[in-house]
Amino acid sequence: MIRKLEKNKKRRNIQPDEYKTQMADASNIVEFDNLCTYFFTDTGTVKAVDGVSFSVPQGSTVGVVGESGCGKSVTSLSLMRLVQGPAGQIVSGQIRYNRADGAVDMVKLPIEEVQKIRGNEIAMIFQEPMTSLNPVFTVGSQIDEAITLHNPRMPEEEAKKRSIDMLKLVGIANPEGVYKNYPHELSGGMRQRVMIAMALSCDPRLIIADEPTTALDVTIQAQILDLLRSLKDKVDASIMLITHDLGVVAEMADFVIVMYAGRVIETGTAREIYLNPQHPYTVGLLQAKPQVHREVDRLYSIPGQVPSPVNMPSWCFFKDRCEKRFDKCDGDYPPMFQLSPTHLVACWLCEGRGAE
Ligand SMILES: Nc1ncnc2c1ncn2[C@@H]1O[C@H](COP(=O)(O)OP(=O)(O)O)[C@@H](O)[C@H]1O
Ligand SMILES: [Mg+2]
Repeated sequence: MIRKLEKNKKRRNIQPDEYKTQMADASNIVEFDNLCTYFFTDTGTVKAVDGVSFSVPQGSTVGVVGESGCGKSVTSLSLMRLVQGPAGQIVSGQIRYNRADGAVDMVKLPIEEVQKIRGNEIAMIFQEPMTSLNPVFTVGSQIDEAITLHNPRMPEEEAKKRSIDMLKLVGIANPEGVYKNYPHELSGGMRQRVMIAMALSCDPRLIIADEPTTALDVTIQAQILDLLRSLKDKVDASIMLITHDLGVVAEMADFVIVMYAGRVIETGTAREIYLNPQHPYTVGLLQAKPQVHREVDRLYSIPGQVPSPVNMPSWCFFKDRCEKRFDKCDGDYPPMFQLSPTHLVACWLCEGRGAE
């Protein structure tokens, strides 16, 4: 009896920690599984992310697309555990991240461990680089710092050399000069290149780029996208590219996740989404795609408004804006219908369609 208890105790001791988990598919770097992140405000509960599931396969680029306010940033901030509490909270779901030594659930991982992952294994590039760069330090000293933070034993000279290499890698023509510059001495496009250099300097396994070109003018946008595209082949990292602009992900992404009002409404390979979009919202986004060389004030021309995030209906959230709605749409929220192993659509029009 005692021996049995001992045995059980031993077995309990080797039970994995609560945050250790299994990936559904080991070839993924991240798996979002039914993630719900809510903001508890005075006016009600904002269901910013409401049951989001998708995966980022190792080495791939996944585009996360949808109109402003649909929960793209909150999804990636949840992964980095940067949602602002106490109002903002991850209320349920898992975010499985495949670390080199085994998978962890980022939702449950102790914050000290999350801090080791941030900027080291997972790097973020934001929309407005000026807010992430410190105005009182030179560009070079900031990249050096990012490098030495993660390689504390690296000699100063070597860190400097690596910083300059990084500036070269992101297409800066006079890296030694820019190394000595202060952020305000650079243009918006150059600052974004510096941010990308900083993000890459720690050799991340996953890069999250949240609207990396939105604050830039059209020609510079195209240059930064070219840069990201070329880096994709040079660095051995997976990329999560967040944007409201389907055109931006068109040439870069392997997979596309379309979000609407806190939920994923269509996923597929880039080909499936561009050549065979099925959700009327995705079709609308593609039609509303801003044309290159044409200034646009309004990015989208899908009529109507997103329902209030504090008071979502029990039926399809897009129904009131949808030209294709039919009687079924008054019923329950549609489940994800699977059209191919990669193509899933939450729309009643796809019911019974099965594999393509
Ligand atoms: N700190 C916050 N407090 C309350 N609501 C928030 C907060 N941050 C984001 N939200 C809400 O969450 C929803 C999703 O926001 P977000 O992820 O930033 O959208 P996106 O990045 O797709 O433009 C929006 O309705 C937004 O108003
Ligand atoms: Mg955002």
